[in-house]
Amino acid sequence: MPENLLQGKKGIITGALDENSIAWKTALKAKEQGAKFVLTNAPIAMRMGAINELAQECNTIVVPADATSVEDIEKLYAEAKEYLGGNFDFLLHSIGMSPNIRKGRAYGDLNYDWAMKSYDISALSFHKMMQVAEKQDVMNEWGSIVGLSYIAAQRVFPFYTDMADAKALLESIARGYGYRYGKSKKVRVNTISQSPTITTAGAGIGGFDAFYNFANSVSPLGNASAESCAEYIVSLFSDFTRMVTMQNLFHDGGYSNTGISEEIMEKFSDKK
Ligand SMILES: NC(=O)c1ccc[n+]([C@@H]2O[C@H](COP(=O)([O-])OP(=O)(O)OC[C@H]3O[C@@H](n4cnc5c(N)ncnc54)[C@H](O)[C@@H]3O)[C@@H](O)[C@H]2O)c1
Repeated sequence: MPENLLQGKKGIITGALDENSIAWKTALKAKEQGAKFVLTNAPIAMRMGAINELAQECNTIVVPADATSVEDIEKLYAEAKEYLGGNFDFLLHSIGMSPNIRKGRAYGDLNYDWAMKSYDISALSFHKMMQVAEKQDVMNEWGSIVGLSYIAAQRVFPFYTDMADAKALLESIARGYGYRYGKSKKVRVNTISQSPTITTAGAGIGGFDAFYNFANSVSPLGNASAESCAEYIVSLFSDFTRMVTMQNLFHDGGYSNTGISEEIMEKFSDKK
């Protein structure tokens, strides 16, 4: 295992809800690799309380912030900067939620107020985090910003409904802001398109077990776990990936480039 990849680096990790969260695993890995960071989540998520245990384990604080609120983000950065004693080298956006999915609304029956919430929480908040960071000038040069996406941004997964559109927007924002932030401050911006992963957000999607198992039998390496995603995120925060920006990076065991696997062929063969 590499050591101290993030020694001396400071940042913010959003989205750790419970021990299954991709952000939770990222916090543990980032700590292991020498980073200092502040944890944050929506005030409503605080009620579950688990994030405080993680904060204790990581020897840090939690600053509640609704990622759709510019004011909350401003306060988050100000408090984090004071606590960490300086600007940030990395930001993790690990946030997603669709009221339409939660309430079982089909793609042809979207509640548009809820759809706007899905886009705001799951995509526009990424832009807000970067716009506030740039305005407050809280990122160090050669800093790294990562968001989490899913392949439904490119291909149709019927039960992903308005989250698919939110992910397409998220990936577009990574390109648009990546260009801008690269020019102005040499900050890189990428999204990681992760395999289906058993977390609160993931498992809340209708038919999750089917597309989890399907992806697992298509991918030559199998599905990428939350822990391996955390390792990939840490590598993107490290100095070894300084020229990677404006990319959507598939972290999916090879799923996105596989047409069919032997397992699936066997399953659908007439010769049994
Ligand atoms: N689990 C999967 O299958 C999968 C696959 C690809 C991408 N992703 C993405 O990974 C990211 C992390 O999700 P996860 O799977 O770890 O699930 P998770 O449920 O553990 O994390 C989602 C987080 O978003 C937070 N959140 C929701 N609304 C918020 C708001 N208004 N302000 C701030 N935070 C808010 C939640 O509190 C939660 O901590 C999401 O962007 C998700 O879409 C997940």
